[in-house]
Amino acid sequence: MLSWKWLVTAATLLLVAACVIEWPFARPAATQSLLAFANAAQVRVADTTPSDQVINASATRMLDEGRNIFRFDTFGSEAFWSGRLRLHQAVGGARFGGIGTGVSPATALSVGLKVDSEVLPPAITAAIRSGSLDVNDPANTLALLQLRAVVGLTGRVENNQLTSLGIQCALCHSTVDDSVAPGIGRRLDGWPNRDLNVGAIINLSPDLSAFTSHLGVDDATARRVFASWGPGKFDAELILDGKAFRPDGRSAATLMPAAFGLAGVNLHTYTGWGSVTHWNAFVANLEMMGSGAFFDPRLNDANRFPLAAKAGLGNVRKSPDLITSKLASLHYYQLSIPAPTPPSDSFSPRGAERGRDLFNSTARCSSCHVPPLFAEPGWPMHTAAEIGIDDFQSSRSPDQRYRTTPLRGLFARQKGGFYHDGRFPTLRAVVDHYEQALNLRLSEGDKLDLVEYLKSL
Ligand code: HEC
Ligand code: HEC
Repeated sequence: MLSWKWLVTAATLLLVAACVIEWPFARPAATQSLLAFANAAQVRVADTTPSDQVINASATRMLDEGRNIFRFDTFGSEAFWSGRLRLHQAVGGARFGGIGTGVSPATALSVGLKVDSEVLPPAITAAIRSGSLDVNDPANTLALLQLRAVVGLTGRVENNQLTSLGIQCALCHSTVDDSVAPGIGRRLDGWPNRDLNVGAIINLSPDLSAFTSHLGVDDATARRVFASWGPGKFDAELILDGKAFRPDGRSAATLMPAAFGLAGVNLHTYTGWGSVTHWNAFVANLEMMGSGAFFDPRLNDANRFPLAAKAGLGNVRKSPDLITSKLASLHYYQLSIPAPTPPSDSFSPRGAERGRDLFNSTARCSSCHVPPLFAEPGWPMHTAAEIGIDDFQSSRSPDQRYRTTPLRGLFARQKGGFYHDGRFPTLRAVVDHYEQALNLRLSEGDKLDLVEYLKSL
């Protein structure tokens, strides 16, 4: 009895003490308010310190510069396309200082060139809409070039003559939304131009000796190779290994890939040659034939890249260097282009939901296409055998593998098919391929759902 009373008294005393002085085990008041302050601070936009402002201004500047470079910088490639191939002469035609009939707007559109409607004077847009612009007159092609309206091509017109032509990244990696007419509309940067027939454009050139001497073939053979590419395709490895055709006799060219939705992905191109900025330097120097510097000693391997090794493409130093100073902003802009969102009526939301579950479970897609990147964080490379196809294209690259393609915005690159060479004409064909290659057990309904999910990405 006594000890019970004593306990109650002690507890009461402690309680009173806790109220009067502060309970020693509670959080000190100072820490509490610091935490509350930190929580509130997290929602503030970090742009208030001088250092933040410097970073923000740099981001804006690089984005603007990068967009400009992507759309309009030729990197001095006129020296090749005009100086060597004399492509400008064929485009201008005899009337404008060149040769032949010249290229009309109708012909330009038919080989997949696109017209940026935003820079057209309203009167011209109206004439296009009403069909009163003469699309068969090469003079109008010159006018479009002068307005900088031909996506990815820069032409200089002096004294009524087309004196040079250069090319830009946007030639292959932008299209337009057709809002004025087919092939004429607002720019869509990063969307691959799957109509563009690069081979047919190169073949307009009167002089292919730059290619024939590099490839070691005659003019007719070079023209046959370029003609074999077809719309939406280009062969970036041809000048490295001289392989123009696959063992089955079909063209070795690959589809123009998306240049959107690439941020966070480690390696680029279908076969993972390097980062975006590696490839930008590669393309600007070796494919667009701009004037700059490029270093990649992997190209010195004469067994695998005989033409590159012979021509010294593994270490290029051209003067003046019009490329290196552009790489940072170009890289930044490239990574800033998000994948476009598919129109909401272009897939079934219910089917897509079921498809997502399959994608992440029994169909095993997410083992490689890890959402939300849809490629593996890390080293996203696989052998041909792992994805159940031949190794022709992978064997033309340093790591001899295929890079897991990030899948967002698939709807914007359906034309020409899927996989690097467009071998699967539809998403259904891709799913059928995986079912067989990965030995999946998918019902007909499962496959339809997977396709709806892919369309929704
Ligand atoms: C003549 C057409 C053409 C031009 C011009 C061109 N590219 Fe490409 N680009 C391609 C093709 C084709 C590939 C795929 C190459 C491969 O996988 O072997 C590619 C690949 C890429 C990739 C990799 C995409 C991915 O899925 O990882 C990027 C990034 C890229 N190009 C950016 C550029 C930039 C920037 C420029 C301008 C400096 C440029 N390209 C100029 C045709 C072109
Ligand atoms: C072992 C890794 C791996 C698995 C598993 C895998 N993929 Fe792929 N996926 C790849 C690679 C690598 C490519 C590039 C192939 C090429 O371009 O030749 C690719 C390409 C694709 C493409 C074509 C994208 C384009 O723009 O051409 C689609 C669509 C696709 N995968 C969907 C799927 C689906 C659906 C599944 C599950 C049924 C799946 N993948 C499972 C690695 C994988």
